[in-house]
Amino acid sequence: MRLAVCGKGGAGKTTISATLARVFARQGHAVTALDGDPNPNLATALGVPAELRAGLQRVPREEIVEERTDADGHTDLFLTRPFEDVLSEYGIIAPDGVGVLSMTGLLGAGRG
Ligand SMILES: Nc1ncnc2c1ncn2[C@@H]1O[C@H](COP(=O)(O)OP(=O)(O)OP(=O)(O)O)[C@@H](O)[C@H]1O
Ligand SMILES: [Mg+2]
Repeated sequence: MRLAVCGKGGAGKTTISATLARVFARQGHAVTALDGDPNPNLATALGVPAELRAGLQRVPREEIVEERTDADGHTDLFLTRPFEDVLSEYGIIAPDGVGVLSMTGLLGAGRG
């Protein structure tokens, strides 16, 4: 199952996302939480201590995703590497075993 949480600023997106991630993980599901906020704080909400959060690197989407077209002409996006490799290289493991990846972040001055 893939679950996306969106809404207006300050509505509680990060809090509800972190809570759902940990509840599902405690129920035995394999959970990876993807932070799409340019000012990422999902790992904090998941309860990851500061020294571990330092290991979270922005995933270089352009390097791990490529567009492919099948014989029927359908185009889709695919990972270029196994997902587990991406998680171990760029991500961290939060309490209850929730994997965390940061998909965005501040890219530099004046770049959003
Ligand atoms: N159900 C709730 N009841 C009361 N306070 C809440 C609830 N959910 C979140 N909050 C509080 O509201 C504030 C904003 O929550 P949160 O950071 O989760 O929102 P957000 O939508 O992710 O914000 P942003 O748009 O800045 O990313 C926080 O201080 C959080 O503790
Ligand atoms: Mg948020």
